[in-house]
Amino acid sequence: MPDNDLDFTIARLGECRIPSPMSGVRFTRDDERVLYHAQLGDLKAWIGKNADPPSMEAAGPRDKIFFDPSKITCGIVTCGGLCPGLNDVIRSIVLSLYHHYRVKKVYGFRYGYEGLVKRIGHKPLELTPDAVNRIHAIGGTVLGSSRGPQDPAEMVKTLTDLKVGILFAIGGDGTLRGAQKIAEEAGRQGLALSVIGIPKTIDNDVSYVQKTFGFETAVTEAKRATYAANVEAESARNGIGLVKLMGRDSGFIAAYSVLADSQVNFCLVPEVPFTLERFLAELQQRLEGRGHAVIVVAEGAGQDLMAKTAECDASGNIKYGDIGIYLRDAIKDHFKRIGMEVTLKYIDPSYMIRSVSANPHDSAFCLLMGHGAVHAGMSGRTNMVISFWNHQLTHVPISLAVSQRRKIDPEGVLWSSVLSSTGQPKDMR
Ligand code: F6P
Repeated sequence: MPDNDLDFTIARLGECRIPSPMSGVRFTRDDERVLYHAQLGDLKAWIGKNADPPSMEAAGPRDKIFFDPSKITCGIVTCGGLCPGLNDVIRSIVLSLYHHYRVKKVYGFRYGYEGLVKRIGHKPLELTPDAVNRIHAIGGTVLGSSRGPQDPAEMVKTLTDLKVGILFAIGGDGTLRGAQKIAEEAGRQGLALSVIGIPKTIDNDVSYVQKTFGFETAVTEAKRATYAANVEAESARNGIGLVKLMGRDSGFIAAYSVLADSQVNFCLVPEVPFTLERFLAELQQRLEGRGHAVIVVAEGAGQDLMAKTAECDASGNIKYGDIGIYLRDAIKDHFKRIGMEVTLKYIDPSYMIRSVSANPHDSAFCLLMGHGAVHAGMSGRTNMVISFWNHQLTHVPISLAVSQRRKIDPEGVLWSSVLSSTGQPKDMR
């Protein structure tokens, strides 16, 4: 999106008139803003125009809040695929509501947006500090999750019946679009309902969010797979270790795993097309020169090489072909055809990575994201996500977060670093 069109204005339900019950904390002023640009060159245009450069509202507790904590009920929902840290975020929200604001009632809606549709019949859980006390130690989500949208009017009806004032929606692209629809429907009905998104995607592909929770844990876990692949590859004559990692449209897990384990020789991501012929020729050259090779492939890479399907998952994403299996077979076929003996070990740790609990750094990050979301909701902000930008927690309108997917820039610093680590050619087409 062109810089001039960036509008980080956050919707508010009304004026904050109630003194916050929090004490002894540093309150964030509404005029504290985090710069969108980090490079001087980008800022110069704005300085020249004598105008404020684009910036995001800083997250944090406000000294005056919108909702009366003694009267409000809140709700939490987790949607989409699993991701390390989901339970940490749930716990953080519940503890912040109880301890920072003394909110007494928090519902946990079951199985994604299904839990917000009364006729489906999932009863919400009552989340208390005791109920969430130890959940951060386990993977997955204690609320359960599901994919797919539900009717916003039905969901708003459930929320109003239960007198929910703030809904915290933890999820990716589809979840955030759903949250946006709930906020819009509530607005149409003139309801004081705040909807706060906490972006969740192991692929780390939400726009205007530089890092999503669980990503660091995913890279840590992926390293176990690349390590094993390298050990296997080095221990065989013409050994090949092939690892498939998640990353539908953005190859961030693959790219960072390569940087975390610089033994990897080829990194294939959705953002950088390649042809099978060129890739196989490079792989052959590598084996002839070094006798072993490690390949990391993101699930969305090389989709143009396989037959397309029209099938979609419940989130509406087109079901992708399995690039891991495709490459495994293509590599084996190629070396068989040319009479070169290779030993290929294929590792797909995708769901093992997604289901672990968060590592300590991600846990801390989840805690801060949860707190930031609660402070935003209590101050009556709505239709926004809590974001991490230039190393600070910020507020971003949902409309911007879902406007496009964040992707690796093939001309950018990250991809250049990957290339200099793997030694693979920039262009394998
Ligand atoms: O949440 C994102 C993600 O992990 C993608 O990388 C992947 O394509 C998708 O979820 C797979 O999820 P599931 O198998 O649960 O449909």
